[in-house]
Amino acid sequence: MARHLARRGWNLILHYHSSREEVEAVQRDAEALGRKVHLLQRDLAGEHGARGLVAEAHERLPGLRLLVNNASVFTKGDLGDIDHLEAMVRIHGLAVARLSSDFHRLAGGGQVVNLIDAQLRSYAPAFQNYRISKLFLEELTRQSALRFAPSVRVNAIAPGPILPAEGDNGERFEETVARTPLKKAPGLDSILRCLDILLDNEFLTGQVLYADSGQHL
Ligand SMILES: NC(=O)c1ccc[n+]([C@@H]2O[C@H](COP(=O)([O-])OP(=O)(O)OC[C@H]3O[C@@H](n4cnc5c(N)ncnc54)[C@H](OP(=O)(O)O)[C@@H]3O)[C@@H](O)[C@H]2O)c1
Repeated sequence: MARHLARRGWNLILHYHSSREEVEAVQRDAEALGRKVHLLQRDLAGEHGARGLVAEAHERLPGLRLLVNNASVFTKGDLGDIDHLEAMVRIHGLAVARLSSDFHRLAGGGQVVNLIDAQLRSYAPAFQNYRISKLFLEELTRQSALRFAPSVRVNAIAPGPILPAEGDNGERFEETVARTPLKKAPGLDSILRCLDILLDNEFLTGQVLYADSGQHL
């Protein structure tokens, strides 16, 4: 998404947690296109979480117009492990709430795009806490759209099976894709197309666009 935005002419603030090398590679690509790029490191589950992050971004690059909330952790855990639930809600929910609220206050206009998940309502105990926290984010998208209108639009993209999860050699991923109504992996391109729709259609707010080959059905 960052590379795509750079191609579309956006200057970037790239937030990362541990992937310094990967984020520097994106920075090089965007700078080669003539874009301004700043890197900010922060642990969104840590003591200070998202506090002050948008203000720091705003200082580096005044005129913020877009906030993409993409940071995520996909680990197993259920309601027997509340520490795990707390960490999940912190990253997928509370950090996003703070970033969005600060963005609304400081940017004064623009839009927020939250990355949720297409498959949130099926009951699977293994990833119960992940799902609860992403459902929080889904509702947060709707509530923020109302709260931050008319200056800021807030929408979400709900990916289906785009990339295999860490530790999956591709087998589980292929099985998941085969169970989608369209039986094909949506691919990264479907995410970028959703992003383009949200960027270009000034009448959308509170929307969830599914990039999922119908998985949510
Ligand atoms: N991949 C899929 O097929 C799929 C399916 C459904 C939904 N999604 C959603 O789409 C989005 C992108 O997916 P993805 O697979 O690219 O995500 P991902 O690789 O699991 O996570 C994205 C980034 O989140 C950052 N992050 C994790 N913990 C953090 C923390 N404590 N503080 C700050 N940043 C942290 C990591 O940054 P560092 O690398 O710098 O540590 C990581 O690169 C996510 O929101 C995911 O839930 C993806």
